[in-house]
Order: sequence, then structure tokens, then C-alpha cells
Amino acid sequence: MDSKVLIRLPRKQYVEELGREISLGEFEKHVITRTDQSYSDKKHTITPESLQQEPHRFIIKKDEYLLLEADFLDEYKQLKRLAQIITLKDLGRIITLLGVTKDSVVVEAGTGSGAATCYLAKVAREVHSYEVNEEHLTVARENTERLGISNVQFHKTDVYEGMKDHGADAFLLDVPDPARALPQVIKALRMGGRCVVYTPNLTQARDVANSLPDALLYEGVIELTERGWQVQGRQLRPRMQGLGHTSFLTLLRKIPGGASR
Ligand SMILES: C[S@@+](CC[C@H](N)C(=O)[O-])C[C@H]1O[C@@H](n2cnc3c(N)ncnc32)[C@H](O)[C@@H]1O
Repeated sequence: MDSKVLIRLPRKQYVEELGREISLGEFEKHVITRTDQSYSDKKHTITPESLQQEPHRFIIKKDEYLLLEADFLDEYKQLKRLAQIITLKDLGRIITLLGVTKDSVVVEAGTGSGAATCYLAKVAREVHSYEVNEEHLTVARENTERLGISNVQFHKTDVYEGMKDHGADAFLLDVPDPARALPQVIKALRMGGRCVVYTPNLTQARDVANSLPDALLYEGVIELTERGWQVQGRQLRPRMQGLGHTSFLTLLRKIPGGASR
């Protein structure tokens, strides 16, 4: 998809203490999928002639704009959402905890809107995504198509009941009762393969830890916090709004089980 990113920069203001003009406030960003028609933001209308140009800067009545080609991340942020999606903050760490590379086979459950699916598919060789809800699968398929992703296989399956043996390197488990899915995680992973269980509630993480089969090594639980900062003019302080709690990440690893004592 040849989308564009349109950014309206904040107007510049003279700051007495600094003795010069600087940009104060936030910029406004729009991802535009149709460049053959005009686009209106809150202040101005931008013509197709301007939208179809190469990356450039332009000014409309004292407001300065940037036009860029949209990249994967710009498009990703536009994906259609039904269920709660895994945040980019957590997704980055999940990918490194799982050790995902371009050679990895990754399994995930549930698919939801396919947000994590799309990112994993960009990084990994192959993704198998399991979901029980047909409506969610339809949206996830649309989202992968929109991003031109073709290395995902969707499975309409209840993961508490059964999964295939994928010999997978990594497993991302994001379903309401993950403890019930652990036998299927063992089935889907190769020996030594890793699993991250994504749980908004600590009670879910506790249930996973308390019901671990022999064949899964428990490597711990973490929570990531992210705090944005306001660094502008004379302001240097944490942002008021930001990400609060999102989830707990429980890390597991498939090991030989059932040793005699
Ligand atoms: C929070 S969403 C997953 C969001 C997804 N990880 C993302 O980042 O977009 C949880 C999903 O698990 C699915 N689900 C619930 N129980 C399931 C089950 N037994 N088997 C497969 N999927 C299930 C739900 O339908 C829902 O789509």
C-alpha cells in the first residue's frame, strides 16, 4: 500500500529566556491511504497534487507540513482493532525474550486482531496463529493482507483443546486462561523452545506458575514500565499521560520432562 504520512508541525514561538524561536507543543500526524483526493485536517485542506509529490515540506497559511512515505510502523498503527492488542512496548521485549530471528518458526494464541501476528511475521520466517473466534480471524486476515504479509498461517482452533506439533522455536500465549493451554504449548514447541505468556492480571501469571508441567522450565515474570518525558523549552518533566500497567510477561522454556527420581 502506497500510503503517505502527513505531519503538521507545531507553530514556532519566541521563548524569552532562550532568546530564540522554538517549536512548542505537539505535532499532528495523519496516515493517508488515498492520495488521489484532497485531505483535510483540522486546519487546512491539502490537494492531491501536494499529496502525490516526493517527500517534501510545505506551508499553508503559516502552518508548516511534512509529507513522507508511510513505512511499516506507520501502517501498523492504523490496523483495525477488535480485541485489546499487545502494546509495542511489550512486543519489543517479547521478541527479544523469545529470541525471534528471521529463521524462527513462531506460534501464537490467540490471534485477536492480528497485531502481534503482523509484527512477528515481519521478524520471523513463519508464524502460526491460533484463534477460536471467526470474526477476530477475519479482521486479522484483513490486517495481514493490508500489510502485504504472506508468511502467516491462521488456525481456527480452541487452544485449550488441541494444537499441531510445529516444532516451533517460540510461542506467544495471549488467551484468557493460559494455564489451560500449557499442554498444547509443549506440543507446539521444539525441545528448548521458548514461550512468553502475556497476562494483564497477576492472578493469571500465578495460575501459570502453579500449574506448570514438568516439561516447562519457569524462568520468571517481569513487568515493563515506560515513562515519556516532556523535553521542550524550559520544561523537563515526566509526561502526565502515558502507558500505565499493561501486562505481566511469564517466560517458560520447553525441557525434557518426566525424569525418574
Ligand atoms: C487479547 S486477544 C489477543 C490479542 C493479540 N495478541 C494482539 O496483539 O492483537 C485474546 C484472543 O484470544 C482469543 N481466545 C480466547 N480463548 C481462546 C481459545 N480457547 N483458543 C484460541 N483463542 C482464544 C480471543 O478470541 C481473543 O481474540
